[in-house]
Amino acid sequence: MLTQQNYTIAQTEMTAPARWQLTLTADTCPTVVPGQFFLAQIDDPLAGYLRRAVFPVPAAEDPSALHVEIPAAAVTDPGIGWLVSRRAGTTVNLLGALGNGFTIPPSAQNILLVGDATQPHLPVALANDAARRKKNVVLALHLPGKRRLPAHPLDPAVELLLVTEDGSIGHQGNFWQRLAPLIPWADWLGATGTRPFSRALRGIISRNLLTFVDGYAQILVDDAPLHICGTGACGYCPVPTAHGIKLACADGPVFDLAEVTFDD
Ligand code: FES
Repeated sequence: MLTQQNYTIAQTEMTAPARWQLTLTADTCPTVVPGQFFLAQIDDPLAGYLRRAVFPVPAAEDPSALHVEIPAAAVTDPGIGWLVSRRAGTTVNLLGALGNGFTIPPSAQNILLVGDATQPHLPVALANDAARRKKNVVLALHLPGKRRLPAHPLDPAVELLLVTEDGSIGHQGNFWQRLAPLIPWADWLGATGTRPFSRALRGIISRNLLTFVDGYAQILVDDAPLHICGTGACGYCPVPTAHGIKLACADGPVFDLAEVTFDD
């Protein structure tokens, strides 16, 4: 449901050297599906007048709270930099929830969540949700190193495949080789990642499934400028698909991976 509401920043913390987590509270939080986004109002004239898109997930420990994780690299944007530098107790106005989030089919029993360092808290939240629904869940993360680990806690029922480029935690080596055997096992796959990551994921799925059918995998496209209007009015967030141009903010930002085209 779309609402405009004030939230209080309960806590801002740097949970790892390269990741911020904001805890936002309100009397009543709207229902949020991982992958949906909110537009945060930025009260800094130097950051321009546009709101900024953030991807909250419900806080497991408190139904009146949302967690927003932000990679340190995103803080170079003046608006995001303003947001993470607010003290606890600051009021922030959010508009949301916007767009379409991930949808795990009720019939799917073996769930594979995949992510890189861009929005890893979203597959973690999806994995926890699927585990609560008694699904078999594997979370596969490909990160540069342990300093980019998501802060969101993981349900112990979730099996974790962690591959890091520097070997500082988990396995070191070829992520895609380790992921490949899990593709035929999964009934449904949800993923977040950069465009090259998503393209590589689609390639590995195509090579490991007899048929890559619609509905098998969903991907979050988060490199489109969702914050220009966020509602489908301006047309500035086009996503090329097999069914023509779609809008990331209104038709996504979660899309069927089989339908997105990556200029390949
Ligand atoms: S941001 Fe305006 S149409 Fe998507």
